[in-house]
Amino acid sequence: MDYVRLPLLVLVLGLVPLWYHTGAAGLHVREEQKRNCSAVKLDLSAVIHRVDPRFLSVTIDASLAAEEKFMSLLGSAKIRTLAKALTPSFLRFGGTRQDFMVFTPHRFHRDAAGFTAEETVDLLHSFSSCSGMDLIFGLNALLRNADNSWNSSNARSLLQYCESRGYRINWELGNEPNSYEKKAGIRVDGHQLGKDFTRLREMMSQSKLYRGAGLFGPDVGQPRDRRTDLLDGFLQSGAKAVDACTWHHYYVNGRDTSLEDFLDPEILDTLALKTKEVLQKVKLVSPEKPVWLGETSSAYGGGAVGLSDTFAAGFMWLDKLGLAATLGLDVVMRQVFIGSGSYHLVDDNLDPLPDYWLSVLYKRLVGPEVLKVQFSSFTHSKTVRLYLHCSNRHRYRRGAVTLISLNLGETAASVCLPPLAASRTPHAFVLQSAGEGGLYSRSVQLNGVVLKMEDDQTLPDLTGLLLRPSERLQLPAFSLAFFVLTDAQAAACL
Ligand SMILES: *[C@@H]1O[C@H](CO)[C@@H](O)[C@H](O)[C@H]1NC(C)=O
Ligand SMILES: *[C@@H]1O[C@H](CO)[C@@H](O)[C@H](O)[C@H]1NC(C)=O
Repeated sequence: MDYVRLPLLVLVLGLVPLWYHTGAAGLHVREEQKRNCSAVKLDLSAVIHRVDPRFLSVTIDASLAAEEKFMSLLGSAKIRTLAKALTPSFLRFGGTRQDFMVFTPHRFHRDAAGFTAEETVDLLHSFSSCSGMDLIFGLNALLRNADNSWNSSNARSLLQYCESRGYRINWELGNEPNSYEKKAGIRVDGHQLGKDFTRLREMMSQSKLYRGAGLFGPDVGQPRDRRTDLLDGFLQSGAKAVDACTWHHYYVNGRDTSLEDFLDPEILDTLALKTKEVLQKVKLVSPEKPVWLGETSSAYGGGAVGLSDTFAAGFMWLDKLGLAATLGLDVVMRQVFIGSGSYHLVDDNLDPLPDYWLSVLYKRLVGPEVLKVQFSSFTHSKTVRLYLHCSNRHRYRRGAVTLISLNLGETAASVCLPPLAASRTPHAFVLQSAGEGGLYSRSVQLNGVVLKMEDDQTLPDLTGLLLRPSERLQLPAFSLAFFVLTDAQAAACL
């Protein structure tokens, strides 16, 4: 074979699968070019996964309890208004510092390290119950006996205190136990940790109030060499004790990342690999056990300054919500709601950031039933990402579906719906950055209107734009959008 023909053959062989790929989706490449529109196939017949109604949940990092601002942030009326708009959801209190918090009964003064455990749990409970969130409190797993088993006596005192006050709380035990050696010079293997959870479950079952409460764990870091071993051992001895198996995920290191990473489809796809790895392990030992992202955000180390709190962060956040639900995770807890790092949804002035508005829209528009969507595009196959759910039943009629879309690219894209699924009146909710900063902006516009609170008690109108009848949905460059197809009459959503 001569050297002129070889590249030609490679080219032809390369085009054949591409032709089949797009052809299978019912739209030829040339057709795509002619119509200037990428085809999308929606399977409206079956639910592929059903997530928890609290799927989108939030966290508060335990380090906040060491700070003076803790009380003023959580005590304000505005933050309760903002939290209410994200319900139903869990509020997880945990993080590295939870494994260094000791409850000291009857001691109501504040020590140098910040708020006492009683004050912390009092404040968290009043905040979560007023805003309607379900509290998860992370207990200290680093209190150890001589034989390295968990010393539960402090947790018992805390449970007794909370029970005496009638606090409804769900529990966790330990945070990222895979790095205990680094954090505290203590090594706890998965098998022991599983036994510790079993011990905690026994304690809970002896309490009237906590007999039916949730217990979640082991809150391991994302799969990386030894960490998965810990999960294996934990599942063997502890899977029965927990209601859901939790792990943590961050895409990148906050100190060493860039805007390009936040828009990189390959980085977004790494979540799928890690999720599959965890799901496979859990399915093997405990097939029915729900798996949750117990703590997750864009970048670890407190977030990426100037990125994790801007419009750019929305690409990682919305893609995580879409991908996690599609792959079969049941809850995703966003680090953090308020208080630490730059990955917060609400800043220290109590101003909501772009990811807050994105989260509120997600809550309002997206229901727990996940449907299958197939997207094939010649020009946008990497930059456009789509997810499909039944619409939120509390707001839309049965049979409605919500198409979630991200356009990571610098050019606009059009998506063509199949005629049968095309709604006569799609409602569009298109989010784009607002103001000077471009993608680095800390404000966001919905259908062209900048979002901000009306006052401390009132969120702005978050209504959709009623589109003219069309099979074509427009995705502006660098946009995040929800399209509610109210008349889709999806059999899976009836
Ligand atoms: C557990 O901790 C408590 C309080 O620190 C201590 O009094 C108790 O002796 C410990 N229990 C065991 C079995 O080591
Ligand atoms: C194709 O569609 C895109 C996005 O909708 C638009 O910006 C562009 O101008 C269109 N191109 C042509 C040739 O119509």
